[in-house]
Amino acid sequence: MAVLKLQSLKPRPISELSMKVGSIRCYVSSCRAVLLPRFGGPEVLQLRPDVPVPDLKPNEVLVRARAVSINPLDTRIRSGYGRSIFEPLLPLILGRDVSGEVAAVGASVKSLTVGQEVFGALHPTALRGTYTDYAILTEDELSPKPASLTHVEASAIPFAALTAWRALKCTARITEGQRLLVIGGGGAVGFSAIQIAVAAGCHVTTTCGNQSISRLIAAGAEQAVDYTSEDIESVIKEKFDAVLDTIGVPETERIGINLLNRGGHYMTLQSSITLSL
Ligand SMILES: NC(=O)c1ccc[n+]([C@@H]2O[C@H](COP(=O)([O-])OP(=O)(O)OC[C@H]3O[C@@H](n4cnc5c(N)ncnc54)[C@H](OP(=O)(O)O)[C@@H]3O)[C@@H](O)[C@H]2O)c1
Repeated sequence: MAVLKLQSLKPRPISELSMKVGSIRCYVSSCRAVLLPRFGGPEVLQLRPDVPVPDLKPNEVLVRARAVSINPLDTRIRSGYGRSIFEPLLPLILGRDVSGEVAAVGASVKSLTVGQEVFGALHPTALRGTYTDYAILTEDELSPKPASLTHVEASAIPFAALTAWRALKCTARITEGQRLLVIGGGGAVGFSAIQIAVAAGCHVTTTCGNQSISRLIAAGAEQAVDYTSEDIESVIKEKFDAVLDTIGVPETERIGINLLNRGGHYMTLQSSITLSL
């Protein structure tokens, strides 16, 4: 996952922006944004200076972006994934993740205040993304940013971690003592999944590249198998209550399903289909 630091873009300070106190519309009316005017490679992206900022709905928060991250979903949509849905809606602003400061809040927002440091992620189908000086998210899509994290670090977490959370907590409903296999633990989603499962009291085995092994063991995985040099099926002896396959090629799918306990969950991120066996 790549991370873009936005501090160098120098958005106008909020004090220079028009404000209507007591109204939900109390912020900048336009700002810089990276637009996707047509599908293609990175060269089609355009930095525009005056992209309109919509009015805030009551439950929405305006975030002055300090850092955003680039997820696989962004590069796929840029290349044409979901063309039939997104083409009529071009130009789009890509980007799911953001870390920054609250610049304004809608009338019903209670938990966040102007000036607070926050991070969060938009829904996968949100049309106005975060590649902009001022992103709009709902109150429940944002959390206070821990002081121990920089904006760059914080912006790298939400979308990948929420993907892992949804798979493990909402689909597999992992519980303490269960056994989980994470195929591809070295990536952003896999690394998040390991930490979520360990925190839930699960026993975690993972596959990853050699350079990732020590990091994943330090995060709590009990076994990390190098997929580049080891035969996964002969090294991993036990079966699992859930398998999260972040790679999703036919070989990892076959291995993952073969290593499941009866009634376990195989989850792949390469398709919208989640199989419950
Ligand atoms: N990031 C997100 O927010 C997000 C959200 C939804 C869905 N997804 C999907 O989830 C998948 C993973 O995304 P990601 O962001 O986690 O990717 P990533 O950060 O780019 O990580 C991919 C990792 O997979 C590992 N890998 C490659 N081939 C492998 C194999 N055969 N066996 C085991 N590990 C292997 C590599 O780990 P080593 O470095 O250890 O070799 C690599 O670092 C993608 O298909 C993506 O579209 C991602």
